[in-house]
Amino acid sequence: MPIDEKLLHDLDERRANALVSGAPAKVEERHDKRLLTARERVDSLFQPGSFQEFGMFAEHQCTNFGMGEKKLPADGVITGVGLLEGRPVAAFSQDFLVAGGSLGRVHAQKICDLMDYAQRAGVPIIAFNDSGGARIQEGVLSLAGYGQVFFRNVLLSGVVPQIAVIAGPCAGGAAYSPALMDFLIMTKTGASMFICGPEVIKAATGQVTTMDEIGSAAAHATVSGNVHFVANDDGHAIEIVGKLLSFLPANNLVDPPHRPTPELDLSDVPAFEDIIPADPKKPFDVHHVIEALVDDADFLEVHMEWAKSIVVGFARIQGIVTGIVANQPMVRSGTLDIDSSDKAARFIRFCNLYSIPIVTLVDVPGFMPGVAQERGGIIRHGAKMLFAYAAATVPKITVIMRKAYGGAYLAMCSRDLGADMVFAWPTAEIAVMGAEGAVKIVFRREIKDAADPAKEEAALVKKYREEFASPYQAAANAQITDVIRPAHTRAAVAMALRNTLSKRETRPPKKHGNIPM
Ligand code: HXC
Repeated sequence: MPIDEKLLHDLDERRANALVSGAPAKVEERHDKRLLTARERVDSLFQPGSFQEFGMFAEHQCTNFGMGEKKLPADGVITGVGLLEGRPVAAFSQDFLVAGGSLGRVHAQKICDLMDYAQRAGVPIIAFNDSGGARIQEGVLSLAGYGQVFFRNVLLSGVVPQIAVIAGPCAGGAAYSPALMDFLIMTKTGASMFICGPEVIKAATGQVTTMDEIGSAAAHATVSGNVHFVANDDGHAIEIVGKLLSFLPANNLVDPPHRPTPELDLSDVPAFEDIIPADPKKPFDVHHVIEALVDDADFLEVHMEWAKSIVVGFARIQGIVTGIVANQPMVRSGTLDIDSSDKAARFIRFCNLYSIPIVTLVDVPGFMPGVAQERGGIIRHGAKMLFAYAAATVPKITVIMRKAYGGAYLAMCSRDLGADMVFAWPTAEIAVMGAEGAVKIVFRREIKDAADPAKEEAALVKKYREEFASPYQAAANAQITDVIRPAHTRAAVAMALRNTLSKRETRPPKKHGNIPM
């Protein structure tokens, strides 16, 4: 006997109803604002037809305070797994058209179930955040739901990559789930993220502000550093998700998606030698070095607009996925400050979690001098760099291009911090401090007593640079692997990566180190 047609019809009807979350006018309103619906976001993320949905019929069952008989399709969050470039990825997408995407018990349970699945299956998780926050009508159960999501964010940290897209409001405590993830991408179209909005700030402190100033994508990408990537709209955010995942392994137990070229290309790249100015005080843009080093000049910069004296991001070098950390001489001479230390340390730790080798490009005059830096805790923040590099057991390759002074020399992954190979260009200067400062301290009397003090000082500075701080001094002291022509950098780094990829390093067992926070 064939199945009762009525049952199939009922199923089709229920499915159709679950797919409709908002009135057509509301959907149109979103489209006019260049916002996709929750389902459109998921559909755009995955290969067509590959999305396998979890809990389409899950729905809030109570008729609580103010909720009445309101239907809440999928309880305001679409969850499931789909294929992205052939690889399975879990995703959830909050539906603002269903009770403002607010999070209640069932909504939270769906997210938690998906996170548990991502952990078991070892797949990355993508979160589209677009929500009015805790569902007011569900009271403490909403808060408990957030707590359960946060708990899983922490469980998954270092197990599978977690990427948050802030694609609508993300207010109050709700902002902490994205903050607990690895990368935040925020759209310029209609997204906001804040703990206390302008009205609350005014009521509590009297300060007058705007959402642009405290909660916009621009504010988070340039000032607070909460956001790693800014997207023009949802489509662009999804593009960034795809690009980011193209460098990441599915979980911490598998290798990143290396695509090693069958033969190493050991040819010189003359472009390196045009980048460094003859005058050691003249800045250069480290992006040019990175472009000459990585495959097809293809570099996904992370935190591009924040703490710009350091540049971090992902690339491939002759097919090997690599995390790049580079001082930027164009911004405050490439000094390490509070924010740039935080930025680099977090990136280094991410690379270490997912077996991504780190290439460090050094031109650093030191830590940033200043009252605000000292009082702001540059010691604590700078220590994060030392901690992160020393704790990282992935392959670590360092290239000293120019200045490498003092504590910052160590903080940029010197041999002593565990670099597997350190290359220096002939332009490198490795010393306790810069030439000008050093000769003033050491040769104060000689300079004062000289017939022409300025001339004497200039001669000493030159001598210091050429002899004392020269890379050959460091090489003679067995502190570097080799002094190389800049043109040979790509070949040397590519060889070093291939030769170090099998690295394994064990450390004393412990719960975790105590990184300065
Ligand atoms: C229940 C909510 C809701 C919420 C919005 N809605 N937020 N329902 N709980 N938290 C519903 C609205 O009632 C409305 O339903 C629909 O979603 C759309 O909301 P609008 O206000 O019409 O939209 P808009 O004008 O675009 O404003 C969006 C908004 C605003 C800025 C997000 O709704 C808002 O301020 N909501 C409250 C935000 C908030 O304070 N949440 C709590 C944060 S604290 P109808 O039926 O009319 O369409 C928090 C704690 C987390 O989340 C703690 C974790 C530890």
